[in-house]
Parts: sequence; C-alpha cells; structure tokens
Amino acid sequence: MSEARNGKDRILEIGGISVPDLAKACGTPLFVYDEKELDQQMSDYKTYFRSDQFETEVIYASKAFTCKALLQMLDQNGLSLDVVSGGELYMAKQAGFPMERIYFHGNNKTDEEIKLALDLGCKTIVLDSLMECERVVTLADSKGCSTEVMIRINPGITAHTHKYIITGNLDSKFGVMFHDEETILKMLDLVKNSKFTTFTGFHAHIGSQIFDLRAYDAVIERLIKYIKKLNRDHKIEIECLDFGGGFGVRYTEEDQPNEVQEVCSRIIKKCEEELLKYDLHLKKIMIEPGRSIVAEAGNTIYQVGFMKKTPNKEYLFVDGGMTDNIRVALYDARYDCDLAEKMDREKEYRYTVAGKCCESGDILIEDAMLPKAETGDLLIVYGTGAYGYSMANNYNRISRPAVVFVKDGKARIVIKRESYSDQLRLEANEEVII
Ligand code: LLP
Repeated sequence: MSEARNGKDRILEIGGISVPDLAKACGTPLFVYDEKELDQQMSDYKTYFRSDQFETEVIYASKAFTCKALLQMLDQNGLSLDVVSGGELYMAKQAGFPMERIYFHGNNKTDEEIKLALDLGCKTIVLDSLMECERVVTLADSKGCSTEVMIRINPGITAHTHKYIITGNLDSKFGVMFHDEETILKMLDLVKNSKFTTFTGFHAHIGSQIFDLRAYDAVIERLIKYIKKLNRDHKIEIECLDFGGGFGVRYTEEDQPNEVQEVCSRIIKKCEEELLKYDLHLKKIMIEPGRSIVAEAGNTIYQVGFMKKTPNKEYLFVDGGMTDNIRVALYDARYDCDLAEKMDREKEYRYTVAGKCCESGDILIEDAMLPKAETGDLLIVYGTGAYGYSMANNYNRISRPAVVFVKDGKARIVIKRESYSDQLRLEANEEVII
C-alpha cells in the first residue's frame, strides 16, 4: 500500500492504483487484494517451512477465501489445499487445482461428498470420527477407488483465542480425543482391513488467530509422544503429522503477529527435537495456514452514505456491513480504517461505522477515529482478506461485493459483483413429484 497526492490531500493506493480509481471502475463495496502481498505470503511459507530431515507441505485452508484466481496462484507457488465441503472441492477441480495436493476435511461429510472425493482422486480424506471412517472405507471398497486417509486428533489443548474459533478443547466437535485409544485403534483397523484405504498419519488443528506459539509446541509434543506410544504398544508406523493452521494476523495495531519465518522455523525445530527425543522418523510434516496467507493482503472499500448523531454516538453508515463482514458481529473482531482520500488529515472525530442491514449488531467498527467524514467519502477497512468474502451472505437481499486483484498498476476483477438477478437464479415454481 502506498499514497499519492491530489492537491493538498494524500490518497491511498493499493498495488499502484488509487482507491478512488478502483472504486470508480469497480464500484463499492469492493474487496481489493494486493497480489504481491498474496504471492509473498505464499512463497514465504514455501521457503521457510523446510527441513532436511523430513518432507514438508504447506496446505492452504481454502475456507479463508477462495476463487479460481487465488487457487491458480497457490498452485503456481506449490502449495496444497484443504477443502471442507463438496463445494470447495468442486471449485478446486474447476480451477484445475491438482487433486493429488488436496486434503478433504470436515466433521460430517455426506456420501455424495465422499464419493466425489473418491471419483476425483482427491489425495487424502481426513477422518473426523469412527462413523465417518466406516463410511469412507465402505464407499472406497464398494467403488474400488483408492484414497489415503488421516485421522483428526483432538489433542486436548486449549488455545487462547475467541471461544467460537477454539477447536482443540475437550468436548470440541472436531476430531477424536487423543486418549480415546480404543476408537483410534478401531479406525486404524478398519482402514487396514480395506484394500482401498491407506492410513498416512494424524492431523490436529487447535484454533485460529493464535499468537502464542507455545500452543503449537504443546501440540507437537503431544502428538509425537502419542505416535511413539502407538509405535511401541501396537507397532503402528506413522508417516506424517499435520499441525493445522491458525497463525495470528494483524487486524489492528494491538495485534502482534509472528513472522511467517518465525512460525515455520519454530514448528520445524520443535518437531526435529521431539523426533530425536523419541528416536522416531517421519516422512512428512504439514501445516495449514488460511488467514495468515490472505487476511492482510485484502481490504474492503466502502462508500460513506448517511450520517446520524445520537446522544452518545455519531454514526457513519457505509454501503455494506455484516453481509460482507460478519466477523465483528460473530467474534467482536476489531479492524482499523481510514478515509482513503483524506490520509493526512487529523483524525479528530470519533465515529461508529455501521452497515446497512436491519440488525442493531451490524456495526463494523466502534470508536473509529477519523478525519471529518462526509457523504461520498471512501472508507477503507484493512485486513479483511480472510473470512470476509467467504462468509459473505445475502441477508436483506444485499448483493455480495466484487473482488479485485491489483498488481503493478493493473486491476483484474476475479469475482464479479452479484446482481439482483443473480440472487434470484434459484427461484422456482416447480411441482414436486413424490
Ligand atoms: N485447518 C483446519 C482443519 C481448520 O479448521 C482451519 C480453520 C484452518 C486450517 C485454518 O485456520 P486459519 O489459519 O485460517 O486461522 N470463521 C473464523 C475462522 C474459522 C476457522 C475454522 N477453521 C474467523 O473468521 O475467524
């Protein structure tokens, strides 16, 4: 991001294009991704997540944000992909993403989704429960389709983050509890007795927006200790371990994320130490960053509409809101913002930035300090690149924004703005034949 001058005002630019030009050409609200930043994050993960003792794999969690253009960039950078639904898998297929680098997660895959994964030749199905294991084995055997499987383990480690995005705690809906050895052994047995499924290892993901890397140390310690036990007691060999994603990002100045290099080298080093301690060898270790690849590269541009004073607040309404960013209402998420054409004016006004939905909780930023705002100003909210567009919705029949990638003074629309007629494309009046 940089700035340019227009008379006395400094104007924000992204990827060499001014925010007003982007807004004029593509409309608002608009998700704008800086392609160089995306590329940098992807290549940093590839560069730093390396060891000479085992293979490594960086698997992007596509739930954070996905579109064909992003999937193609990920492919070019040699990253793999985590999908959690038939829809995400289908999208990857349509984008030409190599199936031999796709991991299929999720706690309640339908038969249809499992069959799709088997038919498409998706590399690995990550099993979340004993029941799912039975289904996958049955379907793989009946179709005669081979697949690798991993088991998602709940390592029983609570990360310090919002309670809705913790996943590794006791009673989490995800995975099999690490001390439920009976279930794990049953799953391993089922897989072993199938001609078409091959067990490769364990997966764990303890939550999101995690800053304290000691949480990952704990997961690594626990999983490696556990595979030693399985190896010793049951002669079970494990090829790979996947430690999930969740690495924290900077939404506001208060957030102090770790550099990609720091995250990667810490995980690699900890793994090497633990393996040495137990005299174990692994073929491969994996991580699954989502947010930390796309969050900070993405921003949303809104236009300011009406404004209103109440006894204690001054509202500034924008042309989007919880339909393009539900994270504030869901997790009390915090963001920073600016008026993109008034970058060097004093920020002496306190506003509540709110959206246009019929919902009191449709607030984007409380206590935003900004220069004096007027209708028509362009407001940029920073760091909305993860779980913004991917959780966007049509509440109040508000259309989803367009998404644009910018680089070296060039912009390309990668997802078109939804029209009213797009919203009605599934309307029907068909008689149901029962
Ligand atoms: N791997 C697995 C198995 C996951 O479940 C997730 C996220 C990730 C990787 C990637 O986590 P990340 O690096 O993106 O934090 N909607 C919430 C986040 C839910 C994340 C669910 N799983 C939010 O907006 O914060």
